[in-house]
Amino acid sequence: MITPETRSNPSDYGLPDENELLARIAGYFPEFSEPPATSYSPTVVPLGSGYRAPTHNASTPPPKSGNALYIGNVPHDKVRADFPILSEKVDGKPLVWLDNAATTQRPRAVIDRLVYYYEHENSNVHRGAHTLAARSTDAYEDARKKVAAFIGAPSADNIVFTRGTTEGLNLIAQAYVKPLLSAGDEIVLTILEHHANIVPWQIIAEETGAVLRVAPVDESGQIILSEYAKLFNHRTRFASVTHVSNALGTVTPVAELVAIAHGFGVRICVDGAQSISHIPVNVTALDADWFVFSGHKIFAPTGIGAVYGKTEVLEAAKPYQAGGNMIADVTFERTEYQKAPNKFEAGTGNIADAVGLGAALDYVSSLGIENIAAYEHFLLEYGTEQLRTVPGLRIIGNAATKTSVLSFVLDGHDIQDVAKHLSAAGIAIRAGHHCAQPILRHFGLEGTARPSLAFYNTPDELDFLAATIKEIAR
Ligand code: ALA
Repeated sequence: MITPETRSNPSDYGLPDENELLARIAGYFPEFSEPPATSYSPTVVPLGSGYRAPTHNASTPPPKSGNALYIGNVPHDKVRADFPILSEKVDGKPLVWLDNAATTQRPRAVIDRLVYYYEHENSNVHRGAHTLAARSTDAYEDARKKVAAFIGAPSADNIVFTRGTTEGLNLIAQAYVKPLLSAGDEIVLTILEHHANIVPWQIIAEETGAVLRVAPVDESGQIILSEYAKLFNHRTRFASVTHVSNALGTVTPVAELVAIAHGFGVRICVDGAQSISHIPVNVTALDADWFVFSGHKIFAPTGIGAVYGKTEVLEAAKPYQAGGNMIADVTFERTEYQKAPNKFEAGTGNIADAVGLGAALDYVSSLGIENIAAYEHFLLEYGTEQLRTVPGLRIIGNAATKTSVLSFVLDGHDIQDVAKHLSAAGIAIRAGHHCAQPILRHFGLEGTARPSLAFYNTPDELDFLAATIKEIAR
């Protein structure tokens, strides 16, 4: 039997080789087929009788038929019309929103749901003996069920609402991992991580004398599985990894990373901030111990997100913050806590935006996340081809499995100037280090220009992006 002390390489654990693993990840992206006849129900908010989400009846993933674009069986222009801000003009130019990795835009269904909440349901939750308290509690707990269903969690009790991914990672670090650590213990990360998946671990490492171990990537920006496996040993206490890199778009082989960590008896957290709106997630199939994401990356309001934890880790974790809502009984001598998820939700939470998150997940589900993945895969390939025609443009991050992100640098041009020029044409992208300095420095860079896609973007927008960058390059 292999033990952490006798381990030498991943094949000792019966893991498939890297090519096979990468082929398996490529299978996450569905192939395209012709669209069936369209059926589409526009967004409707029924008043007075409780809120019902709109449905799109999408079932298959055909992104393109001739010149017409589809998401599932829904014509693309109808989907775009669900997002009021996409009709906005900036400095007289039509807005081209390509900053989706920073934040996504909200469909009318989410905006209307917030208005409905404040007009018909607003109250504190869990403690009022009146009708609005019952309405808001139902809406809030319903949103928790929607999150659980969307990510394949066994129960709503496994879902804790937070402000977002960053708060979720800090919660896990402080409430679950820090009490496990002694001097010399190790936490395994990767060089792809966002600062939010580095600094919380660095802080608890400094406080306990633990150390961080960091997995490298290959030249495409993909984690090297054999190197990843070599970082684990008998001092490893925890691992945390991104599902999708916000700087490069790499989709990591997360099922295999979970399997490696578990092979060493180590619990692992998956940062889903950049995967949640682009590819299907099933935390149960993945066997992740923890999974975190932000609402605003998936068409929901800012200031709301969720932590999924397996029941046993939620039970083992200490309270993160203390106050109302998380207690069962308080005396000055001792306090008895609620069970999860309430144990981790001290104080009045962001009720309306949790409800908005539920509406956003309904909206995404009505299109079908598989259909969205298929459409965006088509769009990313199209955009990559267009950007490759720009003289002097170098795409940073070329993993075989990527989603959404088209990071680049342009010879002889400062990335901030590129972003400013694009903004003057109505195109919103992000330029900078994207809160992921280690991976950019690995590629010898302090920043990139980063267009990032969502399903409401079009090939025409990417043509315009490429043409405008060509003007800059001239
Ligand atoms: N983490 C977000 C981004 O990549 C803000 O832009």
